[in-house]
Amino acid sequence: MSIIGLKSNVFLAPMAGITDYPFRKVIAQRGLVNLYSEMAAINAISRKNPKTYRIIDVRNEPYPVIVQLVGGNPDLFSEAAKLAADLGAYSLDINMGCPVKKIVANNSGSALMKDLPLASKIIEATVKATPLKVSVKFRKGWDNSSINAVEFAKMCEESGASYVTIHGRTRAQGYSGEADWDIIRQVKKAVKIPVIGNGDVTSPELAKKMLEQTNADGVMIGRGCLGNPWLLGQVHNYLHNGVLPALVPIKELKEALLQQLADMVDFYGKEMAVAISRKYVCWYSKNLRDAKKFREIYTKIYDYSDAIKAIEDYFSKQEESSIL
Ligand SMILES: Cc1cc2nc3c(=O)[nH]c(=O)nc-3n(C[C@H](O)[C@H](O)[C@H](O)COP(=O)(O)O)c2cc1C
Repeated sequence: MSIIGLKSNVFLAPMAGITDYPFRKVIAQRGLVNLYSEMAAINAISRKNPKTYRIIDVRNEPYPVIVQLVGGNPDLFSEAAKLAADLGAYSLDINMGCPVKKIVANNSGSALMKDLPLASKIIEATVKATPLKVSVKFRKGWDNSSINAVEFAKMCEESGASYVTIHGRTRAQGYSGEADWDIIRQVKKAVKIPVIGNGDVTSPELAKKMLEQTNADGVMIGRGCLGNPWLLGQVHNYLHNGVLPALVPIKELKEALLQQLADMVDFYGKEMAVAISRKYVCWYSKNLRDAKKFREIYTKIYDYSDAIKAIEDYFSKQEESSIL
């Protein structure tokens, strides 16, 4: 089944501070997958915050981008949806799973799992605002004593959502413990719209296992892609052609990191790009020799040309071998 006309059933998870244009591009060039924006706060959109505008402006990207909105006010959702549609969104996703205090305190993110009438109004307002399809991403429930993903998914379906994504953890769990895939299976059984399963998938084999266990229509992967922009494409290939991935040569790892850095310069400017690149350097070097030493050196770099030189030097010194 094609999910809202998309060509794959493998999704990059929306991640604030990570799934920006440079990250989407590096992934899109390495496989067929569906891409999300970072979450964009509807309150900031209505205040015309330039940083938030930049998150939802995906007009220059040649592949579909699902733009994720977060907030707690149906009218502002309607406004933000219209703007996101004008700025090139392929479809809209509503964040009803974010556990962060600041978001929850604002009746937003996973707080909406405790207020189904408001969540429903938000979905209806967003669906009505534009011709774009609208999906919802949520969790297992607020905490262990209020697990309501099945009821919540039914509400999403009745309110007009085109598909739902469920992360198998409660709000109280944050990102700790294991994701519960059985709740994904229960949600899938309860609704007719497509269900995407999310949580703890880090390899093509685990993606297949999760789909088999849950009967979900698609799989979403977040943290597994950090330092591994090939993973999602590999998962797609494995699920659809049964092909297990070949190892990725270190040279290609270096090229991916350098490309991402160059795109970050175009997007954020040199100074910010170098600062943001520190976390990527950690992720890209995580399985390599002398990574700790390299990270220590890299954290002290502020200049763009020094950053490139450090990356070139470090990766060239690694044996010509393969990882991942
Ligand atoms: C750094 C970080 C930022 C995240 N930001 C968002 C976000 O903006 N919107 C959202 O719906 N989920 C967000 N998430 C949750 C992920 O989309 C995903 O549900 C979660 O990481 C579980 O999937 P995984 O085990 O494959 O990482 C974030 C997760 C991380 C680690």
